[in-house]
Amino acid sequence: MTSPKEMEVHENYFRKDWVLIRGVPMICAFSENWERIDQFQALPDDIVIATYPKSGTTWMSEILDMILASGDVEKCQRDFIHNKVPMLEFSAPNYVDQGTKKLATTPSPRVIKTHLPVQLLPKSFWKKNCKIVYVARNAKDVAVSFYHFDLMNKLHPEPGTWAQYLEKYMAGEVGYGSWYDHVKDWWEKRKDHRILYIFYEDMKEDPAREIRKVMQFLEKDLGEKDVETIIQHTSFQAMKENPKTNYDTQATPFFVNAISPFMRKGIAGDWKNHFTVAQSEAFDIDYAKKMKGKGLQFRMEV
Ligand code: A3P
Repeated sequence: MTSPKEMEVHENYFRKDWVLIRGVPMICAFSENWERIDQFQALPDDIVIATYPKSGTTWMSEILDMILASGDVEKCQRDFIHNKVPMLEFSAPNYVDQGTKKLATTPSPRVIKTHLPVQLLPKSFWKKNCKIVYVARNAKDVAVSFYHFDLMNKLHPEPGTWAQYLEKYMAGEVGYGSWYDHVKDWWEKRKDHRILYIFYEDMKEDPAREIRKVMQFLEKDLGEKDVETIIQHTSFQAMKENPKTNYDTQATPFFVNAISPFMRKGIAGDWKNHFTVAQSEAFDIDYAKKMKGKGLQFRMEV
């Protein structure tokens, strides 16, 4: 249970504006501790799960944990997902046991979650040559998912109406900045670093194929049966029903699941239920300009 004192700490940060860190809008609570995040010392066997928000981070985090546990479901039930895979930048001074503080006591090999754009990742991860799994999801579904997340996550500013939000999203005036820059810059970075770049839509289409890619990247050789167990345990429905992964618990007092659950729909193509035809057309024109010549292909549905 969250104590009244802890709740007070949380409430201090509710619905505050983004704060710019080197030009990137960040959650106010996290920005206060930027120095400690920036100076974070990675270990060579750290595994990073990096994403733009709402791209399948939690899904891949549980997959990584399952692979490291060789498909042992019971072992993966040992703790909540945010404790097993701490979020690097969740490091507000008054939060007792999260972010860099939590990572100081996390046993190796650590799986570390971050949404930081590539230029903000602490240098230590590059120096130590850590393996990084990057998950990208199509821009329209991310916009819809992020809008619902901003509605329910009190650590974010109010998103306004969907139409207002979409404008801000296209302009990069949302948490962690521009989706376009994030996916493009991480895509470029994989040319000179150990980064496995995975697409959410590919995971939806053929989870076994994508899980095997991750296994190969981590040099973990598991059998067919283990892969099948991982697929079952990390399916949207299983993770939605699992209190350790669905964030529908007292551990996150800033998420209001009654407004929109963290495990919302888990599909590719939900954007069609939210974009008007005019919004979609305007988005596509802008998208083509921003993504031109990058060789990065996203599928808008599966
Ligand atoms: P929706 O809001 O579209 O449902 P993140 O973990 O990066 O915050 O991403 C959250 C998004 O991934 C949400 O998308 C959530 O429902 C979806 N998601 C979470 N677990 C999933 C799973 N096991 N399979 C498919 N999608 C999942």
